[in-house]
Amino acid sequence: MTYETILVEQRGRVTLVTLNRPKALNALNAQVLADLNAAMAAFDADAGQGCAVVTGSEKAFAAGADIKEMQAMGFADMYGTNHFAGWEVFARTRKPVIAAVAGYALGGGCELAMMCDFILAADSAKFGQPEIKLAVTPGMGGSQRLAHAVGKAKAMEMCLTGRMMDAEEAERAGLVARIVPAADLLDDAMKTAATIAGMAPLAVLANKEMVNAAFEMPLAQGVQFERRLFNGIFGSEDQKEGMAAFVEKRAGDWKGR
Ligand code: CAA
Repeated sequence: MTYETILVEQRGRVTLVTLNRPKALNALNAQVLADLNAAMAAFDADAGQGCAVVTGSEKAFAAGADIKEMQAMGFADMYGTNHFAGWEVFARTRKPVIAAVAGYALGGGCELAMMCDFILAADSAKFGQPEIKLAVTPGMGGSQRLAHAVGKAKAMEMCLTGRMMDAEEAERAGLVARIVPAADLLDDAMKTAATIAGMAPLAVLANKEMVNAAFEMPLAQGVQFERRLFNGIFGSEDQKEGMAAFVEKRAGDWKGR
């Protein structure tokens, strides 16, 4: 399948999605959203695929929602059509998605990176929510996910001033999992994704689901949620195989059931 604004490639069990609007620094327009959601639906449905990597270019992961597309829009265009609602579909991808970020991840670009399960940042990465400079606000979840990721003080400062955070600050603040030299970013992200894609598929889904629950539920309810998934996974063939493989000192052979 080919797409207008993204490149999609399968390498083993890893799907690599590259945003591909270089002239607009990968600005996220309606076509990018449609392409990403189609690619993620295909990825989720493909039992041969275990983890995805979303990346951009050396200069920009994505410089935001497409300002030129939004410029003439009014309240009815946004609210009436629920213009950005489709991004929540992307965020509901069931299998893990890693954001490999080099260069600018601004506005919607930062929000897209935060919708992924974790961010690997090149040392060149710059994160920001500069919407206030356009007299608007984040609209793809940035105010919420940034506050969850880095706490109120930094999220508030970034949203109110529009300043950018470099990779070092982003790592210290907990926005990114790790910093990688820019030249190694894609290799590292693909290897990390291959490691995840090599795990038992049901355990991967369950681990993702339960970590995400920590951001939706009070602690006691989250612990119950974890316990139920943990108990449930003991009904899988792969749990028997995983523990037998450990005891027999061999690699597990996963069935995904
Ligand atoms: N939307 C549309 N086009 C964009 C864009 C965006 N978000 N960001 C960059 N571009 C376009 C520029 O208009 C320019 O196109 P032309 O050559 O046709 O003029 C091209 O990409 C290259 O950009 P620059 O010449 O500006 O490149 P630069 O290196 O001088 O600056 C930059 C890079 C600092 C990232 C600058 O492009 C910039 O500030 N971009 C906008 C960042 C921004 O405000 N993002 C938030 C958008 S609103 C949003 O995302 C809302 C939301 O929450 C959903």
